[in-house]
Amino acid sequence: MSLSTLAAIPPYVFYELDARRVAQRALGRSLIDVGIGSPDGPIPAVVVEAMQRTAADRGLSGYPEFRAHPLFRAAVTGYLHTRFGVTVDAGSELLALAGSKEGIAELLLSHCNPGDVVLIPEVYYPVYARATLLAGAQPVFVPFLADGRLDLAAVAPDDLARARVMIVNYPGNPTTATVTLDDLAQFVDFAARHDLLLISDLAYSELSYDGYVVPSVLQVPGASRVAVELHTCSKSFNMAGVRVAFVAGSRNAIAQLDAYRANIGYGVSTLAQMAGTAAFTHHATIVPPIVAEYRVRRDALVQALRAGGWAVASPNATMYLWLPVPDGFGDWEWVDALMQGPGVVVTPGIAFGNAGRGRFRVSLVQPAEVLAQAAAAITVTAAAAPAVARPSQPD
Ligand SMILES: Cc1ncc(COP(=O)(O)O)c(C=O)c1O
Repeated sequence: MSLSTLAAIPPYVFYELDARRVAQRALGRSLIDVGIGSPDGPIPAVVVEAMQRTAADRGLSGYPEFRAHPLFRAAVTGYLHTRFGVTVDAGSELLALAGSKEGIAELLLSHCNPGDVVLIPEVYYPVYARATLLAGAQPVFVPFLADGRLDLAAVAPDDLARARVMIVNYPGNPTTATVTLDDLAQFVDFAARHDLLLISDLAYSELSYDGYVVPSVLQVPGASRVAVELHTCSKSFNMAGVRVAFVAGSRNAIAQLDAYRANIGYGVSTLAQMAGTAAFTHHATIVPPIVAEYRVRRDALVQALRAGGWAVASPNATMYLWLPVPDGFGDWEWVDALMQGPGVVVTPGIAFGNAGRGRFRVSLVQPAEVLAQAAAAITVTAAAAPAVARPSQPD
């Protein structure tokens, strides 16, 4: 890879945010951090026990299997079957990953050639565009319809002709948009008609509220001919630090990913896979209390913001609120005003691409009462808008 390829990739906004947060802490300030979507809840006890057993198991001290440990395969196929009614072949249609971020990057690197187009939602989790650029391919951003679904009709024919991959992310980070199984069927149909690999990033599969149940693209008949889906333990099970996820679906795409990974790694840590095995095996008991806590937090935050005059919709999935930057502030200016004023850390929308400008994200990673405090601070800061907004920095 040439240095110019790396240099062409803009700085990672979360790095920038982190630098500002570290600078504030160095000044001795205590911050309410609702910036990064890193779960604050504990790793479930049943998972901790599995990790302790694994760490002491002499038989597991060697290198892991390249694709996945048999127990991980069994737990994942069981989960997909009970949760979504989906059957996958554990040998050819499944692969363990050290997190879905890495998995998405590896999928793009193993699948794309220089000059290919990757269709990406216009507001997106950063790795979609960054790994596309690392592969020498070209990100083309697909606009959203008013309801948060992708406007596939807006993709230019020239781009479509060169497109090799399309990425979808529902429930969406940061938008919180959700879809129905019919919407997913339309993506599958579009991918099949245009010979695309459809990558469904299902990072928030379990975090839904008010009766909404998140569908899987693999529930669409025939989807595994064109689609792969990524699931992760990070959000659903409070396990972001463990780094375990999986990809399931198209056997061709998975064989290609496996061939790529075999050259650069040794599969996923057995310790992490055994943690994931426990999580997916016990998902039905682990998930409800985690979701219940996020729902309480969502309600507290939404209520406190509404009390401050914000017209906020209550999202039915994810662990975020995606809010407009108040009038009078630029993107970074607003983030800095909150951090340097009341000490609230939020994520600027430009972390999720240019179309995220004018918005910011709040993560539900603090207890309800702290989120209510953050909401009050956000309201007070918004009321003190500078007379003339400075233009925001480029991302
Ligand atoms: C949409 C989306 N995909 C993927 C990830 C990465 O998850 P993981 O911890 O599995 O790498 C995140 C994390 O925030 C996310 O929001």
